[in-house]
Amino acid sequence: MSPVAPILLSSVLLAGLVRAQDATGTFPETPLASKHFQYPDEIPYKVDTDVGLIRGTQFGYNLCNSTTEGQDALCQTSFLNSLDDFCLWAPSEPNSMIADTEGEEVAWCTKPGRGTRLIPDGALTGVQFMRTSAYVQVIGFIDQTKINIADGDFGGELDPHGADLRGNPMGGLVYSTAFSSSGDEYTQMIEWHNFMGGNAFCFKVCDPSNEHAADYCQHIYDRIGCAYNAPNNAQDKVFESCEGELQDFPGVYTGDDGQITTYTQPPESLGAITTMPYQPKVPASSNCQSFTSAELYSALASGSSGSGSGSASGSQGSATGSSSASGSAAAAAASNSNAAMGARVGGEGVAWTAMFWVAAAAIAGAVGVMA
Ligand SMILES: *[C@@H]1O[C@H](CO)[C@@H](O)[C@H](O)[C@H]1NC(C)=O
Repeated sequence: MSPVAPILLSSVLLAGLVRAQDATGTFPETPLASKHFQYPDEIPYKVDTDVGLIRGTQFGYNLCNSTTEGQDALCQTSFLNSLDDFCLWAPSEPNSMIADTEGEEVAWCTKPGRGTRLIPDGALTGVQFMRTSAYVQVIGFIDQTKINIADGDFGGELDPHGADLRGNPMGGLVYSTAFSSSGDEYTQMIEWHNFMGGNAFCFKVCDPSNEHAADYCQHIYDRIGCAYNAPNNAQDKVFESCEGELQDFPGVYTGDDGQITTYTQPPESLGAITTMPYQPKVPASSNCQSFTSAELYSALASGSSGSGSGSASGSQGSATGSSSASGSAAAAAASNSNAAMGARVGGEGVAWTAMFWVAAAAIAGAVGVMA
């Protein structure tokens, strides 16, 4: 049984907002996950063209190039290709909570050339890239304040669905070369999830040609973090590219009696998740190749200055009501979280990423983590 974070479920709050403003629509005509564009030729200025919906308009843009590139970029086109070439979704303004900015995150990348911000040099302290037959993922440790996430924020999940199907961030696109036979053709990722917070992250993109893409990249378990959505054995201070066995579908587990069960995440209204009926299985990895941060992220040195320069525009569309109480409770918890993890995983050297929300929440008592 694992203690888990209490959280804020956007849909609950969104429902409240909908009631309060009946005249305003909530859902777009076309859900984000149904909007498909080839990269780079078909990328529109903005993917989300809806106006008059409750969450406002798309915060940034998808057409990103040399004129947008830099630490003020509001580029919302992201990539996950390999250990040395990926982006993470994070806020545009320093000291932001993921819960407050989920609809507006922008792409922070390890490589220049795609019109985005760069993850500042030294922010990434350990990363594992994992290739499997159905998905690729990066799991890692990061000084999150360097990508504008408030210290102590245990964050939440970004995915192309969201309570209103406009995605978080709204209009966010993700591409990968990992599934092309040549290795350099971009494929749009229809199903993906990216958990950010607790100085750690996991970002998984699922091969759209795999019939279980939506299962491996499940987006409904937003309260239980990387441990349950992307079980892994990543370690801080280690940079490695591996192959791996497949995870179980998030939320699906085999009990001691051999019975397969699908977990139901309780609604926010029932309060904190304090126990879990299962421990996720961490799949075996193989053929891991290790690197140094310097050889992987050499392009970042030049991008390090001016990290997190706030971009001008005011935030809009944050309506989703990621309410939240979280700030100080989460911050208070942060200093204890590693210790908590240590107690939990013992000396196995298992990344606390693997469990981060779980143990941290036990200490915090009331941490806000959201959709
Ligand atoms: C570069 O990106 C900006 C912002 O999306 C866009 O307005 C501009 O048209 C783009 N330039 C080219 C040449 O595509």
